[in-house]
Amino acid sequence: MWVLANAIDALDEINANRTYQEIEANPSQISIRTSISNSQLVEIALAKPAEGIADNAGGMPEQVKNRIFNPFFTTKPVGKGTGMGMAISYQIITEKHRGKLECFSTLGEGSELIIQLPTQQQVSTAV
Ligand SMILES: Nc1ncnc2c1ncn2[C@@H]1O[C@H](COP(=O)(O)OP(=O)(O)O)[C@@H](O)[C@H]1O
Ligand SMILES: [Mg+2]
Repeated sequence: MWVLANAIDALDEINANRTYQEIEANPSQISIRTSISNSQLVEIALAKPAEGIADNAGGMPEQVKNRIFNPFFTTKPVGKGTGMGMAISYQIITEKHRGKLECFSTLGEGSELIIQLPTQQQVSTAV
């Protein structure tokens, strides 16, 4: 939910500076794909494909990308961002589920958050 909310926020931010015609020509897109990588891991990826976004906005600069999992890190205005969504997601995915959360993003080309979860785990790590 937090990853989706971020994708929606990022698209809203870009679209605030785009005309209706620009949006119509290059519509905003959030795609979700799931796959079983090797029967051990379920992978859920949220992708905003580069070809969907023609303007030069979107994505994250290196200094943002490196900090998105830090608690209270936000680039959003006061009252909108808490900076906790990615920090909590990271903690739940890595510590509770022994999974992986990775961010791939190119400035102007969108972002991809990859979630990997083990399909099986020891009871002690799941509780
Ligand atoms: N899909 C995305 N596109 C662009 N920036 C993102 C995306 N996901 C996360 N971010 C960046 O990571 C920061 C931290 O995200 P998060 O922890 O969810 O806090 P918040 O959404 O409250 O700012 C955001 O403020 C934003 O700068
Ligand atoms: Mg968020």
